[in-house]
Amino acid sequence: MEERVVSAEEQRYEDSLDQQVRPQQIEQYIGQEKVKQNLNVFMAAAKMREECLDHVLLYGPPGLGKTTLSAIIASEMGVNMRTTSGPAIERPGDLAAILSGLEPGDVLFIDEIHRLNRMVEEVLYPAMEDFCLDIVIGKGPTARSVRLDLPPFTLVGATTRAGMLSAPLRDRFGVMARLEYYTESELTQIIRRTAEIFQANIDEEAAVEIARRSRGTPRIANRLLRRVRDFAQVQGMVRFHWQ
Ligand code: ADE
Repeated sequence: MEERVVSAEEQRYEDSLDQQVRPQQIEQYIGQEKVKQNLNVFMAAAKMREECLDHVLLYGPPGLGKTTLSAIIASEMGVNMRTTSGPAIERPGDLAAILSGLEPGDVLFIDEIHRLNRMVEEVLYPAMEDFCLDIVIGKGPTARSVRLDLPPFTLVGATTRAGMLSAPLRDRFGVMARLEYYTESELTQIIRRTAEIFQANIDEEAAVEIARRSRGTPRIANRLLRRVRDFAQVQGMVRFHWQ
């Protein structure tokens, strides 16, 4: 028997399909009402003061829209989003390169932020707090530290394991938002919206049936919808002829 390995490529393919249907503005984003209300206030206030938004930690189970919300924050604030992840940043220099490449106001999205290593975290603290980098030049007794200024930016960290974040990192986020599982009615609306983007007709009853099987998770709902659409496309016609 052959074992099926889900490759990073397949994961990226699923992610790219997700991307097609992701809402780009906050009004298009269904559910997470409390989080949206709060973010709307914080974003409006930051814009009025012509500041960038405070650092945001989004936490909760996978598939609930943390990446989507981060992209929405960037788009609502009128800035670009740079995306990376905890395990992808191996050395302090990797993070220093990312930070020094940011434009003023940019959103830096770090997925799985609980997986950053300690040395990288140390670089992040002054960057978050004072928008600067402490670079050590040389080694041994002649080593000295130089401070480099960074452009102001908003760090959006995402994690499924808020409890695994170190206290100093957690304390540097000005906004913490917990994403909740979606209700059946919210998932039904999401499925109808995605079906519209696919230009696929779906009965209300069918949307509800998919929503009920989605374990409160839009990623699962949209994946099920794609599979149901496959069946409808291939076998729907056959049934039609039999009836
Ligand atoms: N697609 C995935 N998640 C969504 C959400 N929360 N609102 C609208 N469309 C979505």
